[in-house]
Amino acid sequence: MHATTSSLFLLVVTSTTFFLTGAIQLQRPNGRGCIPAERNALLSFKKGITADLTNRLSSWHGRDCCQWRGVRCSNKTGHVLRLHLRNQNPDASSVDGCDDVNALFENMASLQVLDLSFCLNNNLVMKGNFKNLYSLEILYITDNGMNGDIAVFMEWLSQCALDTLQELHLGHNNFTGALPNFIGRFTSLTVLDLSNNNLTGSIPPELGNCSYLVNLDLSNNQFSGTPPKLGNCSSLITLDLSYNQLSGIVSTELVASPNLTSLDLSNNNFIGITSLDALINLNLSSNYLHGNIPNKIGAIRSLESLDLSKNMFFGEIPWSLSNLTSLSYLNLSYNNLSGRIPTGRQLDTLNADDPSLMYIGNSGLCGPPLLSTCSGNDNGIDGNERSSRQQELKLMSFYLGLVLGLAAGMWMVFCALLLKKTWRIAYFKFSDKLYDKIYVFVVVKWAFVTRKD
Ligand SMILES: *[C@@H]1O[C@H](CO)[C@@H](O)[C@H](O)[C@H]1NC(C)=O
Ligand SMILES: *[C@@H]1O[C@H](CO)[C@@H](O)[C@H](O)[C@H]1NC(C)=O
Ligand SMILES: *[C@@H]1O[C@H](CO)[C@@H](O)[C@H](O)[C@H]1NC(C)=O
Ligand SMILES: *[C@@H]1O[C@H](CO)[C@@H](O)[C@H](O)[C@H]1NC(C)=O
Ligand SMILES: *[C@@H]1O[C@H](CO)[C@@H](O)[C@H](O)[C@H]1NC(C)=O
Ligand SMILES: *[C@@H]1O[C@H](CO)[C@@H](O)[C@H](O)[C@H]1NC(C)=O
Ligand SMILES: *[C@@H]1O[C@H](CO)[C@@H](O)[C@H](O)[C@H]1NC(C)=O
Ligand SMILES: *[C@@H]1O[C@H](CO)[C@@H](O)[C@H](O)[C@H]1NC(C)=O
Ligand SMILES: *[C@@H]1O[C@H](CO)[C@@H](O)[C@H](O)[C@H]1NC(C)=O
Ligand SMILES: *[C@@H]1O[C@H](CO)[C@@H](O)[C@H](O)[C@H]1NC(C)=O
Repeated sequence: MHATTSSLFLLVVTSTTFFLTGAIQLQRPNGRGCIPAERNALLSFKKGITADLTNRLSSWHGRDCCQWRGVRCSNKTGHVLRLHLRNQNPDASSVDGCDDVNALFENMASLQVLDLSFCLNNNLVMKGNFKNLYSLEILYITDNGMNGDIAVFMEWLSQCALDTLQELHLGHNNFTGALPNFIGRFTSLTVLDLSNNNLTGSIPPELGNCSYLVNLDLSNNQFSGTPPKLGNCSSLITLDLSYNQLSGIVSTELVASPNLTSLDLSNNNFIGITSLDALINLNLSSNYLHGNIPNKIGAIRSLESLDLSKNMFFGEIPWSLSNLTSLSYLNLSYNNLSGRIPTGRQLDTLNADDPSLMYIGNSGLCGPPLLSTCSGNDNGIDGNERSSRQQELKLMSFYLGLVLGLAAGMWMVFCALLLKKTWRIAYFKFSDKLYDKIYVFVVVKWAFVTRKD
């Protein structure tokens, strides 16, 4: 009696378990699968796409939305983690849709990566409701023709992803207004790309509190004023503020990052430059920088690219430039520089096709690589130096020719041996004989020498 009740109980338990696992498996085949609410959100998004010209969504059918193209789910929970909906063929005719993003925004609480680039051709995303995207780490909405006040957009983002957001890519849109001060409260930001918008006002100093910021691109906007001291951006590696209306003096104070390697401040209204250090790329082209080019520039030994073209620098080019032995690009054209162009080391190797292009548009410059000769004493000294260098160069090319000739000769012999059997046999016979002869000669001589001792 006891046994039958317990076995009955066991039967009930096992069948219930079986039923339950069966049900779960129905919903999430292979242990993975799709949360129904998220699947519906994706289908609703798909419906909003009026023309899927690049056939992005052809795989979007069937129960398991985790198998759909561009959708990545968590293996553990089944929630959608990543949505890569970037239009892969971003030419105007194929952009048509992504109208219904609200369903996505409202139902994807676990979403970490969202890429809607080149997708929207209207402004609907600005009406979207971000507040449920509280896991968002990376957001790409590049080139979507979005307009409106950037502050409003950022406000929405701050309501959900203030602590989680790491990368924000909003380049090539039509956002307007000023960057709000509370940008400094997105403390996890590593990449901020707001390039090619229509942003105005000054760059908020609070950006200096984004201490994880690695890449900051605010290029091609209408930012004005003096850029703030981004003192706490100690992780910054690239800073691009080109094509704005920024003014003031360029100095190390702007960015105290020891890791900054690339600084592009070209096409602004900067008027002066003080010390800068440890950069690899420095572009200050098209500003109003005036005065002498600081002699200290020769101390930035890491510099590989230096563009100071289209400014108002005057005076002589500092000879310390020849200390920049890593330099592979230099442009000093269209300034008001005068005097002898420095030569030596790396400077003589740059822009080999037409070195004069580095210096054009400076009426007072003289000496090679320009055609105009310098007047005065130092001409002779430099002339001597130059001719001795030319001599060196000739000698170098002579040795190079010698080595190349030798190598070619050896190669021909080797090839001949490789291809022609009879020659090969003859060669080895000959070398064998030679070896025997030398061996006998040496042994006899050696015996002769040692016996004499
Ligand atoms: C989930 O599973 C797939 C295939 O089984 C595997 O390729 C992927 O790396 C897994 N993802 C994670 C986050 O573990
Ligand atoms: C950007 O917005 C301005 C003002 O709203 C408008 O005049 C301009 O045509 C827009 N530009 C683009 C590229 O959408
Ligand atoms: C920026 O805004 C101005 C005026 O609103 C407009 O004329 C211009 O086209 C906009 N620029 C871009 C790149 O949208
Ligand atoms: C940076 O953050 C600190 C503390 O969070 C705050 O005291 C300071 O005022 C902030 N600086 C700026 C420029 O926002
Ligand atoms: C840098 O961070 C410190 C500590 O959080 C803060 O006191 C200071 O105001 C910040 N400086 C700037 C320029 O934001
Ligand atoms: C500079 O970069 C190195 C290597 O990536 C990193 O270890 C270091 O923490 C960075 N320094 C700062 C101040 O972020
Ligand atoms: C510097 O910037 C100017 C204009 O922004 C650009 O034309 C030039 O190619 C840049 N120079 C380098 C070396 O990238
Ligand atoms: C180049 O560097 C050397 C070694 O640091 C220094 O002695 C010299 O003065 C520098 N040359 C110029 C022209 O600055
Ligand atoms: C160029 O510099 C000279 C002095 O070196 C100055 O007299 C002249 O006005 C400057 N020209 C321009 C266009 O700045
Ligand atoms: C330097 O810049 C000027 C103006 O931007 C350009 O015409 C010239 O070709 C550049 N020279 C080199 C060597 O790139």
